[in-house]
Amino acid sequence: MSATVIDGKAFAATVREKVAAHVARLKADHGVTPGLAVVLVGEDPASQVYVRSKGKMTVEVGMNSYEHKLDVDTSEADLLALIDRLNGDPDVHGILVQLPLPGHLDEDLVINAIDPAKDVDGFHISNVGLLGTGQKSMVPCTPLGCLMMLRAHHGDLSGMDAVVIGRSKIVGKPMAQLLLGDSCTVTIAHSRTKDLPQVVRRADIVVAAVGRPQMVPGDWIKPGATVIDVGINRIDAPEKGAGKTRLVGDVDYDSCAAIAGAITPVPGGVGPMTIACLLANTVTACCRANG
Ligand code: GUN
Repeated sequence: MSATVIDGKAFAATVREKVAAHVARLKADHGVTPGLAVVLVGEDPASQVYVRSKGKMTVEVGMNSYEHKLDVDTSEADLLALIDRLNGDPDVHGILVQLPLPGHLDEDLVINAIDPAKDVDGFHISNVGLLGTGQKSMVPCTPLGCLMMLRAHHGDLSGMDAVVIGRSKIVGKPMAQLLLGDSCTVTIAHSRTKDLPQVVRRADIVVAAVGRPQMVPGDWIKPGATVIDVGINRIDAPEKGAGKTRLVGDVDYDSCAAIAGAITPVPGGVGPMTIACLLANTVTACCRANG
């Protein structure tokens, strides 16, 4: 079997078109332009790439982008003061603090200082609690993008066995909540899980979010299962020339694609959907703020 490739890049372009149309209506009918503030502390190269990309796409859909780049040694008090200012700014509807933060900053304290209504990442403890109890919340962008692709591919997910590999607060835990909300039978697997291959082999849906390059081989996959690869890992690629690198996911793409029914590629799968969902969340926050 050769898997259907789920084209996250094309799907994300469709989501962005819908967001752009919604933004145009908000401007024309209500005189409101959604605004997204992104805060980056330090100069982590991967974070810089993500933040640049978020800013560019925000502007492309017609929204205002406010970038705040702070020194790596910014104090917690200064960062909290900036968040306070953004919370009170009526032109800012969404606030995202790029993670990870430098070690001297308390990530939970910083995230929980964001107004939950502007927390377009869905990481604030209020939004985590709302999601966990099945109430209306801001939903974290990466899991939301994964869920949208799964729904588009399968329609109804109810009764499916889903295994999420990874228990991070950014992806693993909210992904499991969303799949549960769609009536999947959900297992969260992690580094201490016993007999991980056997657990993964049960799954109709596998979501890999561990941050370990090509960790999941094809012989862990049930024939016909859907594989969602959240990983973005840079590895050496000597076949491309000395010193060259390439991006790979958390699953071994070729062997998994030979067994799975559907699979997301890396790049071009989950990544573009994450940013598209961030833009959609910002429009949602703007609509809620403006009644
Ligand atoms: N770092 C990696 N992924 C994310 C994300 O989705 N949001 C934020 N704020 N930081 C991240």
